[in-house]
Amino acid sequence: MSNKAILNIDGKTFEFDTGIGSENEKYIDIAPLRPETGYITLDPGFGNTGSCFSSITYVDGTNGILQLRGYPIEELAEKASFVEVAYLVIYGKLPDENELKNFAAGLKEHAPLHTNLEHHFSGFPKSAPPMAILSAMLNLVSCFHPEVLDVTSDGAEFDKTATLLLSKVRTIAAFAYRMAAGKPINHPNPNLGYCGNFLHMMFSDPYQEHMVSPVVEKALNLFLILHADHEQNCSTSTVRVVGSSRANLFSSVAAGVCALWGPLHGGANIGVINMLEDIKASGHKPEYYIEKAKDKNDPYRLMGFGHRVYKNFDPRSIILKKQVHNLLAELNIEDNLLDIALELEETTLKDDFFISRNLYPNVDFYSGILLRAIGIPLNMYTVMFSIGRMPGWIANWKELLDHKQRISRPRQIYTGKTRRPYISLMER
Ligand code: CMC
Repeated sequence: MSNKAILNIDGKTFEFDTGIGSENEKYIDIAPLRPETGYITLDPGFGNTGSCFSSITYVDGTNGILQLRGYPIEELAEKASFVEVAYLVIYGKLPDENELKNFAAGLKEHAPLHTNLEHHFSGFPKSAPPMAILSAMLNLVSCFHPEVLDVTSDGAEFDKTATLLLSKVRTIAAFAYRMAAGKPINHPNPNLGYCGNFLHMMFSDPYQEHMVSPVVEKALNLFLILHADHEQNCSTSTVRVVGSSRANLFSSVAAGVCALWGPLHGGANIGVINMLEDIKASGHKPEYYIEKAKDKNDPYRLMGFGHRVYKNFDPRSIILKKQVHNLLAELNIEDNLLDIALELEETTLKDDFFISRNLYPNVDFYSGILLRAIGIPLNMYTVMFSIGRMPGWIANWKELLDHKQRISRPRQIYTGKTRRPYISLMER
C-alpha cells in the first residue's frame, strides 16, 4: 500500500509523505505544498489542520476518549490529585514520592504574592471582569520575577517558572474575587493542600477561618483534573502561537486566559448557568429553547453543547454529571438548575437536529452546577477553568520550545481590492 498522498493539479502530479501517530491518527505532510505547487490549503477554523506533533494529550472524538500522557481521564479523575496530574501533564510522567513532595513544596513556596503586586488589585474597578484581572496580573507577575523571564523550557529556571505560575494563578484568582467583593484578602496557608488553600483564600474571613470540607475539596480537585489539558483547543493554540515568537511563559499563558474568556470556549461555563437561569425564570419548557437553538434565523445556541472534536460524547461531561449528583447529595443541596439541565440533555438526545450534528453536552454543561454547589461565584467560573488549564498551557509551551517549533505564521487568500492608484483628498 502506498504511503504517499498523490495530488493531481494543473496537469501535474505531486507526492506528499503521509504519517501516523501513536494512536493511529493519520496525516499528510504538506510542508512542500506551496513551494512545489504554488497552492496553499484553506482551512478556516483549522478543523483539518494539525499544527504540531504532541505527546501530551490524546483525544478520540468519535469514541469519547481522553488520555493525558496515556492515562485515561476516568482513572485520573478517580485516583489522582490535581497536583499529580499537573506534574504528569508538564513533565510526562507521574511523579514518584520524592518528586511529588518537592513539587508540592514549590507550590507552597510560591503561593504568596509580592506585597507590591497585591497593591495592583485595588487599582481595578469593582466591576472588572476577573478574567481581565487574571490575564493582566499573570503578565504583571513576570515583572516581579525577572530571574525567570528567560525563555527556557528545561532546567531549574523552567521548573521555577512552571511552579510559580501554577501556584500564583490560584492566589491571583482568589485575591481578584476578594477585592471585587470588597473583602480583605486571605494570605495562603502553607499547611493546606492545593485545593484546600484556594478555598481558604476564597472563603476565610477575619477571625473566621474557613473550614475546608473534604467533600468540596475532592470535588474541586476533580474539576481541576478534568480541565488540565485538552490538546490543541483555542486557548492552548493561542499559547503556542504566542510562545512560537519566543515570548516568555507568563505572557504566553496570559494570552491563553484571554482566548479562554470567550463564550464559545471557557466562557461557556458561565453561559450555561445564565441559560439555565433564563429557562427557569421564563417559565418556558426547555423545548422552547431547543427550538430557538434549531432555528436558523435565530443566533441562539444551547450553551455547553457541541464540540469541535467530540462527535459522540465528551467523557468529561459524563464524569461531571455523576460527580454533580454525588456532590449535591452529600451536601444536601437541591438545585433545580440540575433538573432543567437533565431535561435539556434528555430532550436533545432524542432530537434529530442534535443527533445529526453530533451535539452532546460538553465539559461546560455540568461544571457550572458543580462550582455553584461549592460556592464559587458565577463570574469566577472561567477563572476556575483557567486554574485547571494552567498545566496544559505550560506543557504545550514547553513542548513547543523543546521541539524548536517555527514561528506560527499562517497564510491567507487575499480577497480585497487589487492594486490601484492613490486618490488625492480633493478628488475623492
Ligand atoms: N446549539 C445549537 N446548535 C449548535 C450548537 C449549539 N450549542 N453547536 C453547534 N451547533 C450546530 C451549528 O449551528 C451547526 O449547524 P449547521 O451545520 O446546520 O450549520 C453545526 O452544529 C456545527 O456547528 P459549528 O459551529 O460549525 O461547530 P464548531 O466545531 O465550529 O463549534 C462549538 C464548536 C463548541 C464552538 C459550538 O458547538 C458551540 O458554539 N457550542 C456552544 C458553546 C460551548 O458550549 N462551548 C464550549 C465548548 S467545549 C469546552 C471548551 O472548549 O471550552
